Amino acid sequence: MPEDRFNRPLRDLRISVTDRCNFRCGYCMPAEVFGEGYRFLGRKELLDFEEITRLVGVIVRLGALKLRLTGGEPLVRPGLTQLVQLLAQYDAVEDFAMTTNAWHLAEHAPALKEAGLRRVTVSLDTLDEDIFLRMSGGRGRVGRVLEGIRAADEAGLGPIKINAVVQRGLNDHSLVDLARYGREQGHIIRFIEYMDVGTMNGWRMDDVVPAAEIVARIDAELPLEPLGRNYYGEVARRYRYRDGGGEIGLITSVTQPFCGACTRLRLSPEGRLFTCLFASEGIDLRGPLRAGASDDELEAIVRGTWRKREDRYSEERFALAQPREHKVEMYHIGG
Ligand code: GTP
Ligand code: 5AD
Ligand code: SF4
Ligand code: SF4
Repeated sequence: MPEDRFNRPLRDLRISVTDRCNFRCGYCMPAEVFGEGYRFLGRKELLDFEEITRLVGVIVRLGALKLRLTGGEPLVRPGLTQLVQLLAQYDAVEDFAMTTNAWHLAEHAPALKEAGLRRVTVSLDTLDEDIFLRMSGGRGRVGRVLEGIRAADEAGLGPIKINAVVQRGLNDHSLVDLARYGREQGHIIRFIEYMDVGTMNGWRMDDVVPAAEIVARIDAELPLEPLGRNYYGEVARRYRYRDGGGEIGLITSVTQPFCGACTRLRLSPEGRLFTCLFASEGIDLRGPLRAGASDDELEAIVRGTWRKREDRYSEERFALAQPREHKVEMYHIGG
């Protein structure tokens, strides 16, 4: 099994199935940039399901134990359930999840479960209807997202995790409401520090609410205590309610980076490998795949890419003399 330059193993594969999304969250695909005329990937540019399945097989043989489908919004890709079924065949995979905005989740949840998906993580930044509408670029309604979550839970796609990106002055007034909702419903809310992914969101450190502050604000109303890690390389720092009312997670990429144990590889919709969420370049696998490369040849490319890997962007962020100019966009490789 390959290890990278910092002895990190490859464990986690995130598969982005589309660069499209029906929302326009300001921190990911701001509506001013991604308007009517924006050119997303065309059908022939996308990997088809057989191609994705084959590449995933190669990467699973190299040690990936966790798969996550992401996007853009994965459920806008037609026939996604079929892909889930194809990927569920890999016995070595211990965990198989999807990150979604839940807009189309209620209608697909039972079939996704049936096809072999284990669980979902839903992006929901606030329960405040006006703010949610604003944060989703005028596209989202809280009620419909909550229905999607309920349907997924009923279909057995839990324990459900909910990702909330926290931005100062925008949704940070509603953290405790979200925490209370999670407690009541038995979902794990994960508060994410707003990150400088991509180049479009106009990120400023002033907009970041540090995880320590988020914890303090929740703890003041709902007392918390820290929990240990579930597994090596876990992204979230966990806390539980002292009264036994469940747990939350904090994703602290900005104030307490976790690159040291980063085991994540990302496959983009058009078949490029990205070894970091903040990478500038991806390694093309579609070219060799369509030119007839064998599984062994593809494996050699992935292995070589991983062995050369020395990404640790979040640890370097504040030490860089200049901000990195070219960075892949979040909607292109998912969270
Ligand atoms: P579990 O398998 O449920 O533990 O999921 P996870 O912890 O891998 O979480 P998820 O995939 O939902 O990631 C949550 C969020 O953390 C993402 O949406 C990103 O915003 C952020 N994130 C995930 N992976 C990375 C990473 O490698 N680097 C950085 N900087 N942020 C990440
Ligand atoms: N900072 C932090 N998290 C982000 N996400 C998207 N863009 C950002 C950002 N700039 C998260 C979303 C979603 C996942 C796909 O990535 O909340 O849950
Ligand atoms: Fe779409 Fe998710 Fe990006 Fe929002 S964060 S625009 S829901 S891909
Ligand atoms: Fe991994 Fe890059 Fe995120 Fe660090 S910044 S944890 S190396 S994806």
